[in-house]
Amino acid sequence: MNAFIFPKWMNQLRPVLAVVLIGLPLYVIVVFAYGASPKTTDAGYAPTQPVTYSHALHAGELGIDCRYCHTGVEDAAHAAVPPTQTCLNCHKSIKADSDKLEAVRLSHETGLPIEWVRVHDLPDYVYFNHSAHVRRGIGCVSCHGRIDTMEVVYQAELLSMGWCLDCHRNARPWLRPSDQITEMTWTQEQATAAELEWIETYDVNPSTDCSTCHR
Ligand code: HEC
Ligand code: HEC
Ligand code: HEC
Ligand code: HEC
Ligand code: HEC
Repeated sequence: MNAFIFPKWMNQLRPVLAVVLIGLPLYVIVVFAYGASPKTTDAGYAPTQPVTYSHALHAGELGIDCRYCHTGVEDAAHAAVPPTQTCLNCHKSIKADSDKLEAVRLSHETGLPIEWVRVHDLPDYVYFNHSAHVRRGIGCVSCHGRIDTMEVVYQAELLSMGWCLDCHRNARPWLRPSDQITEMTWTQEQATAAELEWIETYDVNPSTDCSTCHR
């Protein structure tokens, strides 16, 4: 029967076909069950953005401070992604006609925000607060990695409960002075004597009670 449907030489391809036919649906199931679930707390996650905005250029090469755009970090729970107007502060004149800024101009004309895709997204049952960290000696790089070298932002850390607790149990190795919060290359090894003394005496006590993060 087979001989009528498949030429004989195709028998050799059977194992290959089997792998493809069984493997493909499995692959699809895996992608949808895990990859496309809202719980994208996977390290390495780097969605494509509507504008090819580069942190390596703006925060790295040009040295624009994180807080120029992420204005909420020191005072609010959310760091906030900047409105189109922040981009236009420069791009009204710099590269104003660039194709790469098409979506920025369109947003300005229509008044509709640019639809940036979220990279970091904790489940809704977890409470997180930026100012509570940034004002208590924890820098951006400890949780987000070397953003100043990223062409496309990716999630550098797991953001799992274990990861949060590792630091909440002993935050000392992560502490830095408040004027170094957005510095990407500062380390305790190269801290000045005064900075180290400050770290020793700085009184932080992150809680590990469930209700701290699950309210
Ligand atoms: C000129 C404005 C600007 C500056 C300066 C800037 N960012 Fe951003 N940042 C953005 C924009 C726009 C996005 C959203 C698009 C993207 O993810 O690339 C973003 C996204 C992010 C995200 C991911 C947000 C998410 O969806 O989870 C992190 C984390 C971040 N920035 C951290 C930093 C840090 C740390 C610095 C300083 C080293 C910095 N940014 C400097 C504009 C800026
Ligand atoms: C203690 C870890 C930690 C530190 C320190 C930290 N972040 Fe975040 N950041 C997170 C987590 C976790 C999220 C995801 C929050 C959520 O899903 O609600 C996040 C989300 C963001 C976002 C997306 C928008 C938002 O507010 O959810 C931006 C932008 C961002 N961080 C920028 C920064 C910048 C800039 C700094 C330093 C000034 C910084 N972060 C310091 C852990 C941290
Ligand atoms: C403080 C000034 C400043 C701000 C604010 C700023 N940029 Fe830029 N941007 C620059 C400079 C400078 C360049 C490099 C121009 C060049 O290559 O000559 C640049 C380049 C770019 C490019 C590449 C353009 C090209 O044709 O190569 C894009 C895209 C871009 N920026 C997007 C953004 C977005 C989106 C925002 C807002 C979230 C933003 N920029 C905010 C100064 C700024
Ligand atoms: C690198 C260290 C570090 C990491 C990682 C970290 N935290 Fe914290 N957390 C701290 C410090 C330090 C404080 C401030 C403690 C103090 O004020 O005494 C804090 C405080 C908090 C608070 C208290 C805020 C308030 O209103 O009192 C919450 C909530 C919190 N963290 C949630 C989280 C969650 C959720 C994660 C993981 C997604 C996380 N933290 C990861 C160091 C960290
Ligand atoms: C410092 C913050 C923090 C504290 C304290 C904390 N959690 Fe969590 N918890 C998280 C984060 C972040 C997640 C989400 C992890 C993820 O998405 O992978 C989580 C997830 C969970 C989950 C869901 C697990 C799963 O597999 O989806 C449960 C249940 C939970 N926590 C219970 C607790 C209990 C019980 C305590 C107290 C003993 C506690 N948590 C204390 C941050 C915390």
